[in-house]
Amino acid sequence: MVQINLPQNSKVEKGKFFKDKTGSKNIRKVNIYRWDPSTGENPRIDTYEVDMDNCPSKVLDLLNKIKNEIDPSIAYRRSCAHGVCGSCAMNMDGKNGLACTKPHSEIKGDINIYPLPHLKVLKDLIGDLSTLYKQYESVEPWLKTTSKTEKENIQSKKDRAKLDGLYECIMCACCSTSCPSYWWNGEKYLGPAVLLQAYRWIIDSRDEDRKERLKKVADELKLYRCHTIMNCTNACPKGLNPAKAIASIKKMLATS
Ligand code: SF4
Ligand code: SF4
Ligand code: FES
Repeated sequence: MVQINLPQNSKVEKGKFFKDKTGSKNIRKVNIYRWDPSTGENPRIDTYEVDMDNCPSKVLDLLNKIKNEIDPSIAYRRSCAHGVCGSCAMNMDGKNGLACTKPHSEIKGDINIYPLPHLKVLKDLIGDLSTLYKQYESVEPWLKTTSKTEKENIQSKKDRAKLDGLYECIMCACCSTSCPSYWWNGEKYLGPAVLLQAYRWIIDSRDEDRKERLKKVADELKLYRCHTIMNCTNACPKGLNPAKAIASIKKMLATS
């Protein structure tokens, strides 16, 4: 029988318990993944009892409350608090999403909060997105034109509409980190977030590099590792459809 041994620091241990000190009758338990690589200790799950009578509605509010009032040592990313910057993406109640738009009232029972899955963890809820950003850079996410014009580069309404469902992507990585193909081939497969971005520039009528862009992604590993499992589309907190964008790239390649 095959025996698999996990590295020592991948074993998650039971952590500290922070008992409520307010005496509130409206308490919820929040379990949070904690790991600080500088300590040499294993990851652990800390549990916090939180007074929900004085907590605004979103999971990010809950985290801010814990950080401000109970335990300032928790690390997580956030910026806009309005579902725009993508920095607060994490795994809540087993599902990837944005902490600033996810109401904690939607979570039944204890509230479990983890970093985005299958990323190297930098600290606590902060995943390492450096590979994803390198992949993003590789699709050259900017308008490429050779024809020089001093005038505004206009686009018809019809062509502009082709970018709907694409330009709204905030690169939060909820989709890529929920994609089984990306879990196993994350170094080589570009994943749904980056492929959606690639398609956003491929389909832009003002761009003059379409052929080259298509050629660059037409690769067994970069593109065709997508097996249309659709986890990505289910995970997107902006309601976008990266699986459809990937299918559109494949179709363009098949028909070009
Ligand atoms: S549809 Fe493709 S990109 Fe989306 S989760 Fe499935 S394999 Fe991943
Ligand atoms: S497609 Fe959706 S889930 Fe994926 S990075 Fe963009 S906004 Fe986030
Ligand atoms: S903090 Fe910006 S999307 Fe949540």
